[in-house]
Amino acid sequence: MKTRANGKVILLGEHAVVYGFPALAVGITRGASAWFDEGASARNDGSGGPWLVLEGFTEAVAQTDPSEVGRAFSSILCESGAALDPGAVLHVSTELPPGGGLGCSAALGVAIARALEPRANDARVMHLAMEWEKIFHGNPSGVDAAVAAHGGCVLFRKGQALKPIHQATPLRLVVGHSGVSSSTKHMVDKVAMRWESDRANVNKLFERMGALTEAAASAVERGELKTLGDSMTEAGELLSAIGLSTPALDQMCNEARKLRALGVKLTGAGGGGCAVALVDNIDVENAIVQSWTQLGFASFATEVAQTKRWTETPESIRAVG
Ligand code: MEV
Repeated sequence: MKTRANGKVILLGEHAVVYGFPALAVGITRGASAWFDEGASARNDGSGGPWLVLEGFTEAVAQTDPSEVGRAFSSILCESGAALDPGAVLHVSTELPPGGGLGCSAALGVAIARALEPRANDARVMHLAMEWEKIFHGNPSGVDAAVAAHGGCVLFRKGQALKPIHQATPLRLVVGHSGVSSSTKHMVDKVAMRWESDRANVNKLFERMGALTEAAASAVERGELKTLGDSMTEAGELLSAIGLSTPALDQMCNEARKLRALGVKLTGAGGGGCAVALVDNIDVENAIVQSWTQLGFASFATEVAQTKRWTETPESIRAVG
């Protein structure tokens, strides 16, 4: 059986969430899968397994491998205590671009956690996935792993219980990739340096972002898409003021505004990665997908499901939980 995990789009609150402010994020059905290779006993040569294969990225990596992937695999295995045969081979695949701000590594971590402990609840899965995430991101807030495990729309605050947000109206989003991948760790470090040198001003920006995020969560619950869109746009301007946007992301935002998106901003760590636009009708959605694509930014539209999480069988994808 394949396990599944969501990708994520942060609507508001990225970076501020690392400093204890809330983030509002949604799960998307593009995500990651993990499955054990049942016929893998040929690898049982005692040379450092169990093994992990990141489809499309790596050959089999042993848990003793000193690479980031090897260390992350070892870390999640140790925390899990799952008794794997040294010949076991775990495969993972993802439809998310690495460094795209869509929670690729967290989705992989959650899919792996579910494969290691099929009966684990979401809290345990998030805990395990964080062991994987920490190797790649150093000091993750946990929002990516939380959304990868839970899906739907959630308000996340570090160290607090996840708050699922009921959507009065389904959220339709257009997501476009600026074409440049960025390192979350690098961008979080960049913000930390800025915070160290200009604490008062950065805190002021984060406080405003926190207020916008709370207002946006209420707007989702009340179906007030215009308020949500306005909050997203202002939050994006705050992220730009911290130096997290790029010319390509600015171009995408300007274009989406012209085409009447309700709100648009960079999403995730910034410095590359993706922009997200909130739309309320199919014509605007199509126009933005078309325009971003013509400008060279790979784009897709998605509707946010209320769903908790997804499992995949060879025959079908079905929502569970
Ligand atoms: C990355 O998807 C979101 C950040 O806020 C980092 C984090 O929360 O760990 C930039």
